[in-house]
Amino acid sequence: MKTIKKAIIPAAGLGTRFLPATKAMPKEMLPIVDKPTIQYIVDEAIASGIEDILIVTGKGKRSIEDHFDNNFELERNLMDKGKFELLEKVKEPSEVDIHYIRQKEPKGLGHAVWCARKFIGDEPFAVLLGDDIVQADKPALKQLIEQYEETERSVVGVQKVPENETSRYGIVDPCTIEGRRYQVSHFVEKPAPGTAPSNLAIMGRYIFTPEIFTFLDKQEIGAGGEIQLTDAIQELNETERVYAYDFEGKRYDVGEKLGFIRTNLEFALQNEEIGEEVERVVRDLLMEKERAKL
Ligand code: UTP
Repeated sequence: MKTIKKAIIPAAGLGTRFLPATKAMPKEMLPIVDKPTIQYIVDEAIASGIEDILIVTGKGKRSIEDHFDNNFELERNLMDKGKFELLEKVKEPSEVDIHYIRQKEPKGLGHAVWCARKFIGDEPFAVLLGDDIVQADKPALKQLIEQYEETERSVVGVQKVPENETSRYGIVDPCTIEGRRYQVSHFVEKPAPGTAPSNLAIMGRYIFTPEIFTFLDKQEIGAGGEIQLTDAIQELNETERVYAYDFEGKRYDVGEKLGFIRTNLEFALQNEEIGEEVERVVRDLLMEKERAKL
């Protein structure tokens, strides 16, 4: 069996939900407290045993490459000032090689993954999206890799979402349940409100066999005017089983404004350095608001 050593992180979207912040800065570089979202994703891939990461970038995404590169001037400065803890935090990750490819036009997530086909070759691989950060005892991607090792089939990470949110996600229609793992009869992208076959939503973690490229090759523009990954997954599932796995862990949606603010607040409250003060600030703000109502 081939092991999963390569991962793709698509990061070439326009990030329109965060405009104007994302006019000149990639949304993947927006920080959660003091770390860009994409670094949480790279850290999860490393903790799951990934050795090579391909980041699919687009126009205006240079800062992502700079972020994962050495910055000798900064490192020298921190060294001279004896700021060794910070120095460790800014060093290029040594456990993994990071590669880049450009998606010339943001034609959708399916197209972004297709751009990585030559890098992947004939191996199973992982895909991680920066819209979801997961805190878990065992990294979410590692949980999916273990499922792949048992089944040797593609596995899509899912979690349950409230019924009124299903139209925002790719949704699976499960047929057979084996613990946390599901066989799936259908994958549907952003079903119209009230028509979702379940509340099991596809989160941004996937393992694919290379056969997915056969279907991505054929994909045409789907829902939202983009080449949809979910459509290719549905086709793959018709020839070779694709499992859904309800991974353990708390998932934070950082791809939209409210989720992003909430995640920042939660992570700030957990932060050793500023957590207590953040709690005080939040209480003060709420009290001020109450007083203003009187
Ligand atoms: P999203 O739909 O969440 O990202 O895609 P977006 O399009 O940048 O965001 P909005 O909706 O305009 O606010 C999920 C992931 O897929 C990548 C995005 O960068 C994001 O990480 N993506 C999306 C691509 O790499 N290429 C695309 O053409 C579309």
